[in-house]
Amino acid sequence: MKLHTTALFLVIWVNVAVSAEVEVKCLLSPVKGTEYVPSGQNVFSSGDILKIKCQQGHWSFGTKATETTVTCNDDGTWSSPANCEKITCDPPDDSGVQYSRWDWSWRRGDLKDTKDYRCKSGYKPTNGATYAECTNDGTWTPNPLCEEITCDPPDDSGVQYSQWQRRWQTGKLKDQINYSCKPKFEPTNGVKFAECTNDGTWTPNPLCEEVKCLLSPIKGTEYVPSGQNVFSSGDILKIKCQQGHWFFGTKATEKTVTCNDDGMWSSPANCEKITCDPPDDSGVQYSRWDWSWRRGDLKDTKDYRCKYGYKPTNGATYAECTNDGTWTPNPLCEALSCVPEATDGRVVVSGIPDGNAPVLFGHKLNFSCPNPEHKLKGSPQVVCTADGSWSNRFPTCNDATCSIVEMNGNAIATMQYGHKLQFECSKPEQVLHGEPEVVCSTNGQWSHPFPQCKERTCGPPPALADGDTVNYKEQYRNGESVYYKCQTYYILSGQTFKKCQNGIWIGHMTCLAPCPVDAEMMAERSITFSWPIGDPNKLYVTHGDFTTFRCTRDKRLSSNSAALRQQCDNGVVNLPRCE
Ligand SMILES: *[C@@H]1O[C@H](CO)[C@@H](O)[C@H](O)[C@H]1NC(C)=O
Ligand SMILES: *[C@@H]1O[C@H](CO)[C@@H](O)[C@H](O)[C@H]1NC(C)=O
Repeated sequence: MKLHTTALFLVIWVNVAVSAEVEVKCLLSPVKGTEYVPSGQNVFSSGDILKIKCQQGHWSFGTKATETTVTCNDDGTWSSPANCEKITCDPPDDSGVQYSRWDWSWRRGDLKDTKDYRCKSGYKPTNGATYAECTNDGTWTPNPLCEEITCDPPDDSGVQYSQWQRRWQTGKLKDQINYSCKPKFEPTNGVKFAECTNDGTWTPNPLCEEVKCLLSPIKGTEYVPSGQNVFSSGDILKIKCQQGHWFFGTKATEKTVTCNDDGMWSSPANCEKITCDPPDDSGVQYSRWDWSWRRGDLKDTKDYRCKYGYKPTNGATYAECTNDGTWTPNPLCEALSCVPEATDGRVVVSGIPDGNAPVLFGHKLNFSCPNPEHKLKGSPQVVCTADGSWSNRFPTCNDATCSIVEMNGNAIATMQYGHKLQFECSKPEQVLHGEPEVVCSTNGQWSHPFPQCKERTCGPPPALADGDTVNYKEQYRNGESVYYKCQTYYILSGQTFKKCQNGIWIGHMTCLAPCPVDAEMMAERSITFSWPIGDPNKLYVTHGDFTTFRCTRDKRLSSNSAALRQQCDNGVVNLPRCE
């Protein structure tokens, strides 16, 4: 137990011996820009406390403090650096800085160093600075050097927001925002979007302007109120047109107009010079060099003439454009008209215009007598002529009579309405052509033309059996004959012609047929005959001829046979029989 105590003591002793030998000190050598308290002391013992003040333009590097206290550590070092250093500025945040080709970075600087700089597009120097300075706090001022350009919400009192967009946001440079304006406002300069510009404001500014109606003085127009050129929406302006002016279209000379919400006047706010449109020139006679009527100004005049059948209204020789915008006289030309003559109750006039309208040049009137016992005397149609007179006197309706006219054209008698005439021909060789009864009827006209007696004629002649005409015609005069002939082997019997007599063919003939005697019939009856004519197989005996038959060899005439000598009678012959 005792041994242990001795050993511990030895260790402590050795320790005491070392510290007693070397005492550790903190040293201080004077440094520019640094004051110490206590001052003038260069060596400090462990645990001593030293107060440090940095002079103008100096600080404790790192902390940037200008006053501090430090403690002398046991190992002879100060608890923190015991000297001040010159204030410097680190390179700043240059993110918005616009460098040039020769100057492309920002270096550390000393206090009060300055450096010119510019900002990139989209940025502006803070506080409008043109240079930065390294200041007491070790930073470049201004700080930041460049600010991003932004536009604060503008004066938007005239802006019409939608349901979704209720206010104007801050924007970046070149941001564009579409907008519209409240009623009675319109986008300034007519643009419909705002842009955030370099100077940090929204353009246009203001965004919306109150709508104005403008007025520029116009000749011939007076305004009430006068002398005012700019009007607000809803303002009412009274306009009077001066002498010789009016509102085009309406032709009025006074009106009021209202300034609309869109900056337009409710109707044109100016008077125009009175002009005359081309007039109705239907009666005007143009020349080759002047073939239309043009628009004219007030008081313009123009000479003119009227066409055939027209006369200038009031005898005018020229027309003038007057205050009411029409050429006077109006119409320029009047059609000439005729005054209808008085008529008795018998005649009916058709074609008179309705009402009291004049009967104009060229107009035609028709006249008729409705009563069949009357007859129109005069022209049935009368025309209004160019000098305003009628082409003929109006006709009248007189009692109707019919004239009897002989064939040579001389009237020999007149007959009253309803009288009948009957006609017949006195010569038998003549026949009546036309109606045999003619009545005096409407308007003194005979119901039919008088009939005529004409020589009777014959139509086509009748045909002849087995024969033909020689001089066939469709029509034959009275007394003329037509001749006939018969076919071969036939014999004409009776007259050789017929005669046209009072329309009837007179004369008679027939063609008598030959008698056929063929070989077969003769063989059957065992007969022959001597003088055959015609075709040996088809033998004929002409009418009236006698033929003597013979019995063939070894045959004798039958007891009940006809005689051997026979005559042909119009196709019939009795043949004898032999046995
Ligand atoms: C603004 O309006 C224009 C044309 O009407 C359109 O092209 C554009 O997209 C709009 N911009 C915005 C941000 O709405
Ligand atoms: C007059 O008579 C003519 C010839 O008969 C006829 O063409 C015309 O239509 C008539 N006019 C009137 C108004 O009856």
